[in-house]
Amino acid sequence: MRLKQGIRLYSLLPEGYDAVFINSGTSSYKEQTLAKVDFQDWHFTPLFEEDAYLPKKDWRKMNTQESAIIRAKTDRKDHNTIFTGYIPAELQYIIRRLGLEQSKNREEVMQKFRDHPETVQQLNTKMQEFLSTVADNKPFHFHCIAANLPNLEMVACDITRLRENFTVPEKRYIGLHNDGTQFMTLHTTHKAGNRITINLGNQSRIFYFVNLTMIQALNMLSEKIDVKEQQVNIYNVSAHFFKHFPDYPVIKFIQQPYQFYIAPTDNCFHDGSTLGNTALDINMVYFGTFRC
Ligand SMILES: [Fe+2]
Repeated sequence: MRLKQGIRLYSLLPEGYDAVFINSGTSSYKEQTLAKVDFQDWHFTPLFEEDAYLPKKDWRKMNTQESAIIRAKTDRKDHNTIFTGYIPAELQYIIRRLGLEQSKNREEVMQKFRDHPETVQQLNTKMQEFLSTVADNKPFHFHCIAANLPNLEMVACDITRLRENFTVPEKRYIGLHNDGTQFMTLHTTHKAGNRITINLGNQSRIFYFVNLTMIQALNMLSEKIDVKEQQVNIYNVSAHFFKHFPDYPVIKFIQQPYQFYIAPTDNCFHDGSTLGNTALDINMVYFGTFRC
């Protein structure tokens, strides 16, 4: 299926759009050969939710036409554009001083933050300065520091669905998804702002997205099914969409260490991945209304 005009990507990277790829769509996790996690004490094949869809692995460069649809030019808004670039060199230097590389798990990462209070103070100051330059005069707030095992097909999982004291191999990954909360509908997710995710690890990571807004996805679905009768909402729209449009392409880009991406994750299907990595993935997330 051909790409539609929708969410675009704006790259401030020196390599431009070289790190961007396209594929032929998605399939159920059951139809894919899944990568195994083999890191420290962890040796398992990740589990997925029943209706999880993953991008197919036939990645290729975008052709001229696709590139023209994906590349952002003017009219870059928080809800219709994904931005990517490097954080300032000064900030990179401060993060390097924390020595996060070689961390085995999130607890070790957090311990390194606790062990370096002065560096963390500088990091906070410089981070606030940097974020103010991309915050579009709107408030923003820290969301989390996340760590993901290497070689994970997809990183998002809904831990509220798990039993108390669940173990890592018991996690069930949800596949490509839209974020959203109970306070949003598919018609309001474009007003929800976006997030900035900064790669603090020492290996690249992957960001996948579908270049359609929730309203576009809903409109496409309404041509196939009765969306009212099927009660399509922010919680089930991804399963409906990937069931009916398995050949709508996914875009992937490689996020190098110290690169950020800004994405309206309530308003598009997406997920991260650490496929091919050998070290812990560490990233830092702020919520706000960012743009470059
Ligand atoms: Fe997400």
